[in-house]
Amino acid sequence: MELNTEAELTEEIAGLREELARRDREAAEKEVQLERYAADLRETFKEERALTQQLTRSYRATVRALSNAVEARDAYTGKHAERVAAYGVEIARAAGLPRPDAPDLEFGFLLHDIGKVAVPDSILYKPGPLTTEERALMARHPAIGAEIVGQIEFLSDAVKIVRSHHERWDGTGYPDGLAGDQIPLTARVFAVADVLDALTTDRPYRAGFPLRQARTMIVEESGTHFDPHVIDAFRTIDDMTFVQIGRDA
Ligand SMILES: [Fe+2]
Repeated sequence: MELNTEAELTEEIAGLREELARRDREAAEKEVQLERYAADLRETFKEERALTQQLTRSYRATVRALSNAVEARDAYTGKHAERVAAYGVEIARAAGLPRPDAPDLEFGFLLHDIGKVAVPDSILYKPGPLTTEERALMARHPAIGAEIVGQIEFLSDAVKIVRSHHERWDGTGYPDGLAGDQIPLTARVFAVADVLDALTTDRPYRAGFPLRQARTMIVEESGTHFDPHVIDAFRTIDDMTFVQIGRDA
C-alpha cells in the first residue's frame, strides 16, 4: 500500500471540503425550490377552496330561490321549507348521520316539495279535505319532484329525499311503497322533520298542535310511520332546540 504524502492528503481534504460545500449549496437550493413549490400549492389550494365555497354559496342561493318559488304558491306553509330543513339537520345529527349539515342533505330538505309545482292551485289551496282523485294527484308530487331535481347534477344526492319523504317504515307510504331499510336513511330522517312541522303549524282546518303533543304523536308512530332508530334519536333532542328553530325561521 502506497502512503500518501502530506501534500496529497491536504489536497484530498480540500477537495472533499469543496465537494461538501457544493452539496450543501445544492441542498439549500433544493430546499428553496421545495418551499416555493409548497407555497404555490398552498396558494392553489386556497384559491380552490375559495372557489368551492363560492360555488356552494351559489348553489345554496339557487336552491333557496327554487324552494321559495314553491313556497310562494303554497300560502299555508309559510316558511315551512326553511324550518323543516333546520329540523332535519338536527334530527340527522342526533341520528348520527356522518355529514348532518352537508349541502346535498340541506338541498334535499329544502326542495322536498318542489314537485308541488305540478299540483293545481284548486287542490293546493283547497280548505277542506281532498277527494280520492285530488289526493292521488297530490301524491304524485314526490315522483315529479324527483324528476325535476334528478336532472340537475349537483342535486343528485337530494333526489332520494325528494322522492322518498312520504314513504312509511311499514311500507304503506308513497310513491314506491318502500319499507324499513329500503327507504333511504336521509328520507327516513326527513319524514320526522316534515311531520313535526306539519303538526305544529296552523292549517286552514285546524290549529297547530303544541310542540310537546306533536312530539308524543310522532313517537307513537315509531315502527309504523317512522324508523324506530330515528325516533330514538329524535327523543334525545331538547324541546328548546325545536322552539329556537321555530322562532328563527
Ligand atoms: Fe311532501
